[in-house]
Amino acid sequence: MTENNNNDNTGDGANQRVVGTPTDTADVVTEVPAGAESEHNGPYLASETHPRGEEQQRRGEKIASLWFILAFLGGIGFIVSYFLFPPTAEGPAIADPQISQYSNMLLGGTLTVALFGIGAGMTVWARNIMPHYEVASPYDEMPSKEEEKSSFSDFFMKSADESGITKRPLMRRTLIAAMLPLGIAPIVLLRDTGPVPGDLMKHTRWADGMRMYVEGTHRYIRAEDLENDPYGMISALPALNDEEYPHGISLNDQAKSVILLIKMPEDDWKDGMDSPVREGSDETHLNWTHQGIVAYSKICTHVGCPAALYERTTHRILCPCHQSTFDAADAAKVVFGPAHRALPQLPIGVDDEGYLVARGDFNEPTGPTFWEYAKD
Ligand code: FES
Repeated sequence: MTENNNNDNTGDGANQRVVGTPTDTADVVTEVPAGAESEHNGPYLASETHPRGEEQQRRGEKIASLWFILAFLGGIGFIVSYFLFPPTAEGPAIADPQISQYSNMLLGGTLTVALFGIGAGMTVWARNIMPHYEVASPYDEMPSKEEEKSSFSDFFMKSADESGITKRPLMRRTLIAAMLPLGIAPIVLLRDTGPVPGDLMKHTRWADGMRMYVEGTHRYIRAEDLENDPYGMISALPALNDEEYPHGISLNDQAKSVILLIKMPEDDWKDGMDSPVREGSDETHLNWTHQGIVAYSKICTHVGCPAALYERTTHRILCPCHQSTFDAADAAKVVFGPAHRALPQLPIGVDDEGYLVARGDFNEPTGPTFWEYAKD
């Protein structure tokens, strides 16, 4: 059915909207004659309706079904294409540009076939099975009249019947089959969100007794290294010594575990250092320092930039991304900016050989706050 918005002035001056493709010969019905009995429950008269012949409907059903089968195969192909390139030990397969190109072409091609098949099938359906209407009706006032509202459901049901969806099981089933893979596809794509992280984001690999080294080197840090600079600051990483990584630590572990070691005169500590590191804990932030050295996460609690601009005279740590500012002398509390929680603190001490070591993990998850974030 097509719609033709020919506005026309009839004799009584009412604007007319012509719906449907006017034929050369047939008179377009411009309004329902008064008292005419409709053979429909809907707004169209029998004289306005051009049902399709049974032969045309049968042929249409077959062609539409073929399109739907093609769409079904396209949808299945889309899901299969997604799994064709499984991730490797180095990471997602599509990190390889060549594989990414093949993957994109296959996913795009199969999705095109699936969507085009459904669209083409529905077009054949509408043009060969559903009846064609030619009607013109006067513009009505808004809202719809009561009788129009009440006739809508009857008309809807009648249209469903006329569409052949109930009478044409082959086409109906193939259409459902064609749409099924596309309905499932978004669920399959959830695989890209990766494994459920569990409490992975709540902890780092810092552990009791673990040494630390200067970022970019394998030189362990001694407490004396900061002695000569009473306002010093160093970025440091846990000495994980993971053999499979060139620097002994994966990028993921670096991103979560990197710390700022800050030295300051102990007279500069503020009251916040006497507060418990966690709710209900006996240990204070000061207990977690070592001879004026404190260790904070370097990852901004706003959205995770490295917060490493340190103003030594005020002990302010500034994040360059959105200017969140933390007070290193006051348990790294936020003093300015969009971050809303302090930088987590790492408990530190020294081992028998005088190297700085962690005495456990951070007091809170590092980095931006996430949905499942909760203080342990
Ligand atoms: S990420 Fe640090 S202030 Fe936004």
